[in-house]
Amino acid sequence: MQTTILTYSTPDELSNSASNKFIEAAQRAISERGRFLVSLSGGSTPMKLFERLAKETLDWSLVHFFWCDERCVPMDDPGNTYGQTKKILFDNIGITNIHRVESELEPALAAQAYAHTLSGFAEAPLDFPRFDLVLLGMGDDGHTASLFPGSPVEIETSTIAVTAQYQDRPANRVSLTPKVFNQAREIWFLVTGAGKAETLRNVIKGEKNLELLPAQRIQPKDGNLVWMIDEAAGKLLN
Ligand code: 6PG
Repeated sequence: MQTTILTYSTPDELSNSASNKFIEAAQRAISERGRFLVSLSGGSTPMKLFERLAKETLDWSLVHFFWCDERCVPMDDPGNTYGQTKKILFDNIGITNIHRVESELEPALAAQAYAHTLSGFAEAPLDFPRFDLVLLGMGDDGHTASLFPGSPVEIETSTIAVTAQYQDRPANRVSLTPKVFNQAREIWFLVTGAGKAETLRNVIKGEKNLELLPAQRIQPKDGNLVWMIDEAAGKLLN
């Protein structure tokens, strides 16, 4: 596992670079395997990246979009990650290979259905896809995807998709687990803002505490881990 930290002066600079790197990663996967399997996250940080990708040139018919997690609200709800990404990206690139979480279902059913969707892209010996790229964010409490502090660590070793509920967050969630994430070829964390600096230092440089810092559960087995951060988020790393 190779870990890289790339620091940018602003979120805009970070998003520009992430967009270029996304296209490069997609072209590499398409030339090596004929398609690009990418898993997206929600939250505010990746939205700038999605805006830039909407202007990029790529054979999008060879790209398959999945989700690291989703909020169990209707697609037209502003809290629905698929719905937000559709407005900013999909509607602008005319993509069809979208494998969303059926957020309108009861959470446990949605998690089950999503595990089944993933099994359709299984890469033996796995019963799920080996993503070419996983895009993650990190909350100021150290959560990633919808793996929240205090959530059971061991579950992650056996299950593909879990449900999650957490403190003040309005909606139930469906989240993929480190079992899936850690098989990816590339995992990128996009983290910006001074409010995350202390947690980022603890996650990257601190004691291992997988229960309270779920972002530490992301340890690719045979892939690259890249932290794309802005100076504000990285100010305590040196
Ligand atoms: C979600 C995400 C979540 C997000 C972090 C960071 O759906 O909310 O999967 O894990 O990445 O909460 O969110 P921000 O980018 O808004 O800080």
